[in-house]
Amino acid sequence: MATIYTEDILIEKAKTSKINDVDFNNLSFGSTYTDHMFVCDYENGKWQTPKIMPYQPISLDPSSKIFHYGQSIFEGMKAYKDAADDVFLFRPLDNFNRMNISAKRLAMPEMPEAYFINGLKTLLKIEKDWIPTAEGSALYIRPFMFATGKGFHASPADAYKLVIAFAPSGPYFSGKVNVLIEEKYSRSANGGVGFAKAGGNYAGQFYPTQLAKDKGYQQVIWTDDNTHEYIEEAGAMNIFVRINDTLLTVPTSDRILDGITRKSILTIAEAEGIKTEVRKIKATELVEAAENGSLKEMFGAGTAAVVSPISGFGYKGKDFELPALENTFGQFLKKKITDIQTNKSEDPFGWRVKV
Ligand SMILES: Cc1ncc(COP(=O)(O)O)c(C=O)c1O
Repeated sequence: MATIYTEDILIEKAKTSKINDVDFNNLSFGSTYTDHMFVCDYENGKWQTPKIMPYQPISLDPSSKIFHYGQSIFEGMKAYKDAADDVFLFRPLDNFNRMNISAKRLAMPEMPEAYFINGLKTLLKIEKDWIPTAEGSALYIRPFMFATGKGFHASPADAYKLVIAFAPSGPYFSGKVNVLIEEKYSRSANGGVGFAKAGGNYAGQFYPTQLAKDKGYQQVIWTDDNTHEYIEEAGAMNIFVRINDTLLTVPTSDRILDGITRKSILTIAEAEGIKTEVRKIKATELVEAAENGSLKEMFGAGTAAVVSPISGFGYKGKDFELPALENTFGQFLKKKITDIQTNKSEDPFGWRVKV
């Protein structure tokens, strides 16, 4: 039976915990789930009472519009626990705001901050023991919202479900990745939904990524849909390039996700005296820089991997290797950001939020 735990959230606790079945020293990424989830339904034009309930399957009518028209958005964030057992989030309001930007673009209802943030914090307090503390591990947080409203008519649904689920996770990628600069397929287009975390954006990436894998690459560097000349994102991460001692990334646009890791890295790099540039980058500029030795590093940046180093890239049938540097900007910035996230260093930018 459900019991009221706080004034605002209905809480039903799981009868037993799965936590003792989990090997916290061998966690993969995003494939183990905690005991509870946060759920809030949008019906009759308003958000209903939020609930925390045992993690369980969700049953839907076959006509639910998520199945037909793909109204589905999500976020990705992490919680960390320090040596004193205190729990922290990293820039959670940025994820909340981006979720609402995605909701608006997909004609879905925006959610109130109190529901999202309070729901998340209450769930975190309940699941605190699930937050892994090993190096590179964290509690991955997956908020998502989808259309539960019924009907085969191609129009926005009248009902939605917001869920927040947790997955204690180990490091996202192991090792460096070799990437293919895409010349044919696009993940997003001008005026489209590339800036939103819409499920369909990722579905559209899987096929071209598989083609790249078949050719021996692990990931795709997306290029602009119009000319395929300019690099845009690295798989599901923002892209950074180091040419000599300048760290470059490309400007966000309606085709590129405004990544929280990207903007944090830019801020930290600038504070550390690393020269940064935010400008368009042509694939041919990377080729020239690789050939003349000025291309020192490339990496993807995102919540899951934080920094994912790139070992080389393929473009127009030719492969280019990057040097194996000892002290990279990527490693340095990853340590800076994770030290802030995990309360191992000062937080001069005010990004860390204690739960
Ligand atoms: C397409 C895409 N780009 C970039 C990112 C990185 O964003 P963030 O740093 O906010 O995780 C993500 C992951 O969230 C993504 O899905």
